[in-house]
Amino acid sequence: MTAECLSADNPEHIQRAADLLSGGGLVGIPTETVYGLAARADNADAVARLYAAKGRPRFNPLIVHVSGLDMAQRLVELPPLAQHLSQAFWPGPLTLVLPKKPDAPVCDLANAGLDTLALRAPAHPATRALLERLDMPLVAPSANPSGAISPTTARHVLDGLGASIDLVLDGGACPVGVESTVVMIDDGRAILLRPGGLARTDIEAITGTLQSAPENSAPNSPGMLKSHYAPKAYVRLNALETGPGEVMLGFGAIAGHHNLSPDGDLAEAATSLFAALRKLDALGAKTIAVAPIPDEGLGEAINDRLQRASAPRT
Ligand code: TXA
Ligand code: MG
Repeated sequence: MTAECLSADNPEHIQRAADLLSGGGLVGIPTETVYGLAARADNADAVARLYAAKGRPRFNPLIVHVSGLDMAQRLVELPPLAQHLSQAFWPGPLTLVLPKKPDAPVCDLANAGLDTLALRAPAHPATRALLERLDMPLVAPSANPSGAISPTTARHVLDGLGASIDLVLDGGACPVGVESTVVMIDDGRAILLRPGGLARTDIEAITGTLQSAPENSAPNSPGMLKSHYAPKAYVRLNALETGPGEVMLGFGAIAGHHNLSPDGDLAEAATSLFAALRKLDALGAKTIAVAPIPDEGLGEAINDRLQRASAPRT
């Protein structure tokens, strides 16, 4: 059986998704970053099924999606810095890791038994409508088999997980294209756990210089799993031209078989990064060579994903 796929524009389809989720189902949902695979955060059976569908190790905790600050307040302690950040950037591609309230309706499996929760309010209108209708938090990791390239269209979700989930809401291609930036707030300090769709400088305007996560800190968003976002082909970084048997992912003046942004626009490059990796992978080459990407703005998230895509496979 393949999952149903329904347009996210139709309120009846949002209701269908809400009914399935209420009953413990798994639904692919559009967000501004990538598609998520949603389940009720308070339902351990649904969350167990979600980990199994993705083949995700259970020590890697999930992001809890909320409709906004009010719902967040029911789940976590929100120190002033976290309030400032959520007021500035929610709904949007920022995830905050905060102390979990003891009575938060989130099962232990969802956050791997930690005493913190990672929260974000996604910006896609259909998913906002869904969260408001349900009035309950949803866990939603990226809707791909663990370790594979994240999905930025409903088609990608069906290709990777169609056989093991109930429904996908098709809300079009994701405009940001890389996952949210994950920041832990600890004792008034802001620590960058994963670069993502909100640039470091935007966050640092509020927090001051972000600290980096200590090496080997558990859980180090998704750094404990070095190979990630991986196509079938090998990935070779900082390439200026193709070698034998290679296809080229270009940027700026380096054209390639697909150019992420001929104008050198990093936001545009982020938007098409994952779809481009899929497209080049489908050509069947042994190696995808990737042009250098500047490590500024959204380039930090792009380079993070590309480094994981090029990491040795286990
Ligand atoms: O943009 C996104 O964030 C997407 C969309 C669907 O919202 N979701 C996403 O989820 O990327 P996922 O599960 O693929 O990534 C969640 C990241 C992981 O790196 C995980 O280790 C980290 O968040 N994380 C979750 N809970 C955490 C916690 N309590 N402490 C530290 N890191 C946590
Ligand atoms: Mg993921």
